Amino acid sequence: MSSGKNQSIEKPWINPDLPLEDRVELLMAAMTAEEKIAQLWQIPGFHPERQELVRRGCVGSLLNVSREEIFELQQMAISDTRLGIPLVFGRDVIHGFRTIFPIPLGQAATFDESIVEEGASIAAKESASQGIHWTFAPMVDVSRDPRWGRIAESLGEDPVLASRLGAAMVRGFQGKDPASPQHIAACAKHYVGYGAAEGGRDYNTTLIPESELRNIYLRPFQACVDAGVLTVMSAFNDLNGIPASGHRRMIREILKEQMGFEGVVVSDWGSVVEMITHGYCADEREAAHKGLEAGVDMEMASESYQIHAGELVASGEMDFSVVEDSVRRILRLKFVLGLFENPLHVPEDACLLAPGHLEAARRAAVRSCVLLKNHDSFLPLASIIGKVALIGPLADAGEEQIGCWCPDALPGSSVTIRKALEKRLGERLAFVKGLADTRSMEASQFSEAVAAAEAADVAVLCLGEDQILSGEAHSRAYLDLPGGQMELLREVAATGTPVVLIILAGRPLVLTDVLPFCKSLLYAWHPGTMGGEAVAQLLFGEESPSGRLPVSFPAAVGQIPLYYNKRSTGRPAADNARGIPQGTPLDPVGFCSNYLDCDHVPLFPFGFGLSYSTVGYENLRIHAPEIVEGEELVVSVCVRNLGNRAVKELVQLYLRDVAASLTRPVRELKHWHHVELAPGESRDVEFLLGNKDLAFLNERGEMVLEPGKFQVWIGANSRCELTGSFELRTASSASSK
Ligand code: GLC
Repeated sequence: MSSGKNQSIEKPWINPDLPLEDRVELLMAAMTAEEKIAQLWQIPGFHPERQELVRRGCVGSLLNVSREEIFELQQMAISDTRLGIPLVFGRDVIHGFRTIFPIPLGQAATFDESIVEEGASIAAKESASQGIHWTFAPMVDVSRDPRWGRIAESLGEDPVLASRLGAAMVRGFQGKDPASPQHIAACAKHYVGYGAAEGGRDYNTTLIPESELRNIYLRPFQACVDAGVLTVMSAFNDLNGIPASGHRRMIREILKEQMGFEGVVVSDWGSVVEMITHGYCADEREAAHKGLEAGVDMEMASESYQIHAGELVASGEMDFSVVEDSVRRILRLKFVLGLFENPLHVPEDACLLAPGHLEAARRAAVRSCVLLKNHDSFLPLASIIGKVALIGPLADAGEEQIGCWCPDALPGSSVTIRKALEKRLGERLAFVKGLADTRSMEASQFSEAVAAAEAADVAVLCLGEDQILSGEAHSRAYLDLPGGQMELLREVAATGTPVVLIILAGRPLVLTDVLPFCKSLLYAWHPGTMGGEAVAQLLFGEESPSGRLPVSFPAAVGQIPLYYNKRSTGRPAADNARGIPQGTPLDPVGFCSNYLDCDHVPLFPFGFGLSYSTVGYENLRIHAPEIVEGEELVVSVCVRNLGNRAVKELVQLYLRDVAASLTRPVRELKHWHHVELAPGESRDVEFLLGNKDLAFLNERGEMVLEPGKFQVWIGANSRCELTGSFELRTASSASSK
């Protein structure tokens, strides 16, 4: 690749007043075939020959480059290469750059698009200030398996929740103008079905029927495309026998043609050449061919495109138009990001950890925590409480509480639970770590922990998972508290001092054995930089818990996969069939889909969460006995605060299509409203149901509306019981009457 100062070359494409497509075509016309192929390659920031490759104009993008080097490499690209095409720099800014927000699974527990959008916009501002153009987020893989380490990065098990929050993240990252100095390109990932990995083992095979692909796994990607996401990342997994990064029907036909996605598809790290290991390609040449033909525009980390694309075209196996379509998409991204007008950015740190950012992170952490147990309304702790024993490996672990995927967090910047409680309790707080970390079995500090608990009015235990136990390639087969934590809990509880348990984790854990040992249980996920302050405010009632579970919590790992929007089966499991005595000759209580030795229902269902008050639901009203195709139907309920504290309630509406041409889930979340009620206050909450709520996607991806009965529930979680039903009459069924 020839390089040399490029001042002499005319560059009409840099005129920002020209239409975008004209600029793309002007540049395409000036580029050689080699220069076009170079745009398809994204190399990692640690690539030993990165400077030489950039100087020679061999790459179009880099990822995970240090901020100092971003400036230097960009300077080379625009000055030393023949056409001066700027580089686009990507990075994993998943739930914050320097100010860390709760992990996405925790953010999902807010069920609040504004919270999630604000977090993404702050992450964009902080990362853009360092010269980053593009984040590989939001991760919108629907995740139904808590063994999978990447459930931490997901927005949970429901496609509507993942769709709405994923789209909110796209808006937050990209803003109205992604070229603005405070916004970056977003990337919906991992396309598609990655969360369905068999056994919850990362990168594992996924076998997903078309109806599940359409109605569950593709929906969040459609929502992100509709929100204008500029890029999509193709996934590692084998999807029904074809690796997702070589899946022409999913990428070119469905994502690009059917969904109308005009942005860039970037492969996940090495996933193009991994098609050889999958057994789908014989060599890197075939992998490059299948990746490009499938519509993967940019190859991350591996270099099969760079090496083989030219040969494939020269041999006539691939038309150069395939390459040029991808190049156009990449150039369009760079124009939309304003890189030709403003290629260089001097990093500045003023906005990092800004007070407003920390306050937003605190709010998000408060809203993400889910109160799972509060026996005798033990929480909030009365302000007059005497001594508190704070115990556990996660009580003062700033780097653990921020969770996975935080390469740019500053050690020591977290407000830990210990710091926040010391601020409120001073000498009345006794802290004992108890274990070196959550995996440790070394119990030498247990006696000190027990002594602290004996001397206190309440023991606050902070247990769960170190951040390394979730995230990419960190799946678990057992979901109990790791290490010696259960033993620590038992010994502290044995003192008789009431226990408040705070769990910090990157996934749902199996809490069945934990529950009896605590009065109250607050699930904080990995709550980010301000997690300690948020937890303290909730413990002392300065804030009230309002989070709701975005994912089912199993009673036993053997129940997995376990999700609320399951199908009925012809013999649905009977509730509470667990009356079977354990350990005696088992006589099935009925020939239905129960286990002999465990309930079929989750320990805590999707949508569940307690508050510091009690909320009643009554008078569900369906404002018409039937809905005709094309019309809307109002459904309402009266919600009442029965307690003596103000409450923020998440009123949830679920539907079931009782009989359809494809079996439909027994319940599907369709809408929710956040309702704030003063003590004793009641309010009618209305929902508007339209065709899109009643339809489902058939195997061709067409919206299908079928006449018949629908059942509706409105309540506080996915197992709520207040219900009603109505009929849908379609134009065809209406005319037949
Ligand atoms: C990783 C992840 C992906 C990430 C990419 C770049 O393997 O699968 O989510 O964005 O590589 O770091």
